[in-house]
Amino acid sequence: MEKEGKAKGKWLFFWIGVIASLLLGWAAFPKLIYFKKDQPVRFSHLKHGEEASLTCEDCHSFRGDGSFSGIPDLAKCLECHESAIGSSKAEADFIKLAEKLKKENKNIPWLIYSKQPDNVFFSHAAHIKMAKLECSACHKSVGGRTEKNPPYRFKWISGYAPEVMSMKTCETCHEKKGISNACFVCHK
Ligand code: HEC
Ligand code: HEC
Ligand code: HEC
Ligand code: HEC
Ligand code: HEC
Repeated sequence: MEKEGKAKGKWLFFWIGVIASLLLGWAAFPKLIYFKKDQPVRFSHLKHGEEASLTCEDCHSFRGDGSFSGIPDLAKCLECHESAIGSSKAEADFIKLAEKLKKENKNIPWLIYSKQPDNVFFSHAAHIKMAKLECSACHKSVGGRTEKNPPYRFKWISGYAPEVMSMKTCETCHEKKGISNACFVCHK
C-alpha cells in the first residue's frame, strides 16, 4: 500500500512539472527560443552582387576534384579589399580585421546558417551538378535578398538555426524525385 502511494506522488510531481514547463514555454517562447550571435563581418550579398558585379560562382564554386568550396577564403576578399575601395566604416572595420587575421594566417570565422549535425551527409555536387537545383531551392534567406546578411541565430535547446533544413524536407523532395530514403543515404 505504501509503495503505491509513493508511486502516485511521483506522477503528481511529474504532471506538475509538465504543466509548469508548458506554461513557462508558452510565455517565454518567442524570446527565449533563439540566441543571437553576430557574424564576424556583416557581409552584404546585395552589394557584392550588384555593385561589385560578381556572380555566385566567383565565390562559391566547385574545386577540381568536384567538392564544393563553400565560403570563400580571406584571400578571395583581399583580391579587392587589400586597400579600401569605398569610404564606409563597415569596409574600414573589415580591412582592420582582415589584416589581423592575415598575420595570424587565419580565415574569417563565419557562422554557417544551414550547418547540419555531424551525422548528416550532404553533398552540393549531387544536388547542383547532378540534380540541377537552384541555390534558392534550399537557401531561402541568404544570397542576395537582404541589405546585409542577418545575425546568426540558433535555438538554444537543439543548437539549430532556423535555416537548417529538417530531415522531413530532405525526405519529401527525395520521395518526389524517386531517391532512396534509406537511413544510410544521409546518415554516416
Ligand atoms: C564576394 C563573394 C560572394 C559572392 C559573390 C556570393 N557570396 Fe554567398 N557567401 C559569401 C560569404 C563570405 C558568405 C559567408 C558570410 C555570411 O554568411 O554572412 C556567404 C554565404 C552564403 C550562403 C549561406 C550559407 C550558410 O548556410 O551559412 C549562401 C546560401 C550563399 N552565400 C549563397 C550565395 C548566392 C546564391 C550567391 C549569388 C547570388 C552568392 N552567395 C554570392 C560570399 C559570397
Ligand atoms: C570583386 C571585388 C570584391 C571582392 C572579391 C570582395 N568585395 Fe567586398 N566590396 C566590393 C565593393 C565594390 C564594395 C562596395 C564598396 C563601397 O562602395 O563602399 C564592397 C564592400 C564591402 C564591405 C562594406 C559593406 C558595406 O556595408 O558598406 C565589406 C564589409 C566587404 N565588402 C567585405 C568583403 C568580404 C568579406 C569579401 C570576401 C568574402 C569581399 N568583400 C570580397 C568588392 C569586392
Ligand atoms: C538541396 C539543397 C541545397 C542546394 C540546392 C544548395 N545548398 Fe548550399 N547547403 C545546403 C545544406 C544542407 C548545407 C549545410 C551542409 C552541411 O552542414 O554539411 C549547405 C551549406 C552551404 C554553404 C555553407 C558552407 C558549406 O559548404 O557548408 C554555402 C556557402 C552554400 N551552401 C551555398 C550554396 C550555393 C551558392 C548554392 C547554389 C549554387 C547552394 N548552396 C545550393 C543545401 C543546399
Ligand atoms: C529539392 C529537392 C532536394 C532536397 C530538398 C534535398 N535533396 Fe538530396 N537529392 C536530390 C536529388 C534529385 C538527388 C539525386 C542526385 C543524382 O542525380 O544523383 C539527391 C541525392 C542526395 C544524396 C545522394 C548523393 C549520392 O549521389 O550518393 C544525398 C546523400 C542527399 N541527396 C542528401 C540530402 C540531404 C541530407 C538533404 C537535406 C539537408 C537533401 N538531400 C535535400 C534532391 C533533393
Ligand atoms: C534524405 C536525408 C535523410 C534520410 C533518408 C534520413 N535522415 Fe535522419 N536526418 C536528416 C537530417 C538533415 C537531419 C537533421 C535535421 C533534423 O533533425 O531534422 C536528420 C536527423 C535525424 C535524427 C535526429 C538526430 C539529431 O541529432 O537531432 C535522427 C534520430 C535520424 N535523423 C534518424 C534517421 C533514421 C532512423 C532514418 C531512416 C529511417 C533517417 N534518419 C533517414 C536527413 C535524413
